[in-house]
Parts: sequence; structure tokens; C-alpha cells
Amino acid sequence: MDVMSAVQNRRAAKSFDPQHQMSAETRRVLLENAALAPSAYNIQHWRVVDVQDIELRKSIREVAWGQAQVTDASLLLVLCADLEAWQERPQRYWATAPQPVQDFLLPKLDEYYRGKPEVARDEAMRSLGILGMTLMLLAQDLGYDSCPMDGFDYAAVARLIRLPAHYAIGYMVAIGKGQDNAWERNRLPLQDWLIKNHF
Ligand SMILES: Cc1cc2nc3c(=O)[nH]c(=O)nc-3n(C[C@H](O)[C@H](O)[C@H](O)COP(=O)(O)O)c2cc1C
Repeated sequence: MDVMSAVQNRRAAKSFDPQHQMSAETRRVLLENAALAPSAYNIQHWRVVDVQDIELRKSIREVAWGQAQVTDASLLLVLCADLEAWQERPQRYWATAPQPVQDFLLPKLDEYYRGKPEVARDEAMRSLGILGMTLMLLAQDLGYDSCPMDGFDYAAVARLIRLPAHYAIGYMVAIGKGQDNAWERNRLPLQDWLIKNHF
């Protein structure tokens, strides 16, 4: 599928076929290619929880407004970020870059994040946003539907997935065979959000 079609056909699915099982190979292709998404400083902050346990899915659904996608999706991914990934052996993020680039970037990265937890969190969330969109477009290409989800109690989900300290949850992405079409698409006209040169 070309990118334009994937973008145009993707909808936030409200229900999935609970019987459908995604093959291990499809799961691998989806996840490995999603990780080609860009991330700030190539830190790849994402730590993705693949929730396979049906009882855990049910518990998450209870704290996610009862949304059916949580239990019925073939794949339920909780996109988390390691907020301290920037200082965890950062040289590995630039291992293939020319030495002068590494020499420039490593101290820059430290300067950028050290003592600035808000910056670290913002960067991680930006990267999770791009990862999630990449996952959803790849899902489309592989014949699946998806739904990004943040309609849940973050603290409760954090407890359920045993989120480590200094990690944060971005949102969830549910992927499966969509059953019903979402309602008609609705977007603001371009002139409501496109600003020429400055506000
Ligand atoms: C961060 C984020 C969180 C969302 N959370 C939910 C959710 O919890 N449940 C849901 O059904 N849709 C959720 N959505 C989907 C949006 O409602 C949907 O993308 C929007 O209405 C536009 O519809 P479309 O994606 O079908 O074009 C979420 C979307 C985003 C980007």
C-alpha cells in the first residue's frame, strides 16, 4: 500500500474481531519496521509493552472506560518511554556515525538533558508520537486497523504493567481486524489551523 492510501484509509477503529489472531511473523515485521521511526538523538526512548495475557487485558479494560478495543485487538501495545534513556550508554545511539559527529553529539546530548526532566519527557513523548503513527501506518499496510488510545487511568495501567520508576506511559495502540467503520471523518478546514509566517 502506498503511504497516501495508508494515511487516507487509517481510522481509529472502535471495534476489532476478537477471534482474529495475528501471526508471530506479522507481529515481528510490524514491530521491527516501526522501530525505524525517527527519535530525538536516536535515543529510541520507547519501551513497548505487548499485552498478551487476556486477564491483564481485562484488568486494563476496566480502567480504560470499558473500551472494547483493549480486549478485542489482536495486539495491544502500551507505548512507554524510558525518561533516562538519554544517559544509558548513549554512545550506542551513535555507534555508526563518523567519529567527529560522535564527539560533537555525546556532550551535546548530556548538556541538552541533564537536570531538565521536562525536556527529557517532552522529547520522549515526541518520539512515542512518531512511533505510534508509524505502527498505525504499517498496520494499515499489513491489512490491519488500529486505534491510538489514551482514554484510561494512567496510574492504574502503570500499576498493572508494573511500570518502573523513571518510565512514563505515552498512550496505547490497539491493532486488529476492524469490524465496524468509525463514523464519518471530521477535520477542521485548513484555514483554521494553518498559520502563515507567524501568529
Ligand atoms: C493520543 C490519542 C488518544 C486517543 N484515545 C482514544 C481512545 O481512548 N479511544 C478511542 O476510541 N479513540 C481514541 N483516539 C482516536 C481519536 O478519537 C481519533 O483519532 C479522532 O477522533 C479522529 O478520527 P480518525 O482517527 O478515525 O480519523 C485517540 C487519538 C489520539 C491521537
